[in-house]
Amino acid sequence: MTQALYDDAGSGPAVVLLHGYPFDRSMWREPIDFLSAHGYRVIAPDLRGFGETATQTSVSESGPSHRLKPVPLKEADRSVTTMADMAHDVAALMDELEIVDATICGLSMGGYVAFEFVHIFPARTRALVLAGTRAPADNEEERQTRLQQAEQMLARGMADIAAATLTKLLAPRTLAEKPSVVTHVREMISRADPRGAAAAQRGMAARRDYSEDLPGIRVPVLIIVGRQDPIRPVADAEFMHRGLSNSRLEIIEDAAHMTNMEQPEVFNRALFGFMEALDNSAGG
Ligand code: MLT
Repeated sequence: MTQALYDDAGSGPAVVLLHGYPFDRSMWREPIDFLSAHGYRVIAPDLRGFGETATQTSVSESGPSHRLKPVPLKEADRSVTTMADMAHDVAALMDELEIVDATICGLSMGGYVAFEFVHIFPARTRALVLAGTRAPADNEEERQTRLQQAEQMLARGMADIAAATLTKLLAPRTLAEKPSVVTHVREMISRADPRGAAAAQRGMAARRDYSEDLPGIRVPVLIIVGRQDPIRPVADAEFMHRGLSNSRLEIIEDAAHMTNMEQPEVFNRALFGFMEALDNSAGG
């Protein structure tokens, strides 16, 4: 039996939700429910090496995740999953689902994938939503940290990462008042496959600088950032906003990195308002 590697809910104009690192598509529960109940078709894949793709396939050098074959552990340990690999996976999934174009919404690592997607498949990108992400590439120190972390997670698993990052991913108010969100985020990190996560870390370390792409992005862009995000702070969002010719910036209060989980009503309202405006301007 084939496992589901993506959610596909609702009908109408398509929106594809791309999760961050080291998470899975379950982080999008609230936007999936909201948008599919409000006239949109919502597709949320587990990106390559994450969620259910990690249990039935393993990371490899190329090809869409839902067609990959399991590979031996040693080989998988050395793999790199590039942001372009993931963008190609998304396009292949859209082909399979007969979706011509979509609004591509990515959070953090999902945002890097969105940058690659619009670069490789501009005609298939109706609009972009860039949440908790940034355009510049890593500097050398950040790159080295990622490569070290990849080795650490292969040696010791994901528990240390969960413990070290929760207070950066979530705002103080979320940590104090939303225990179910805290538990969900901790569980996503803890159950992530270290091989898939390590391959994505290497891929993020190798990603190119998307700053140069900004002036050439012609589709409407919604930028979302949590006011208290220490990982991808407001300044990163403002940088993208300045560089893009057609963008809207939404700063979400009482949220850090996981804006859609921490403040789902505000996030959904921003996303829905943006998509509704697109449909109105398209005369639909
Ligand atoms: C994410 O949430 O996807 C990560 O923070 C991305 C990154 O490490 O740059």
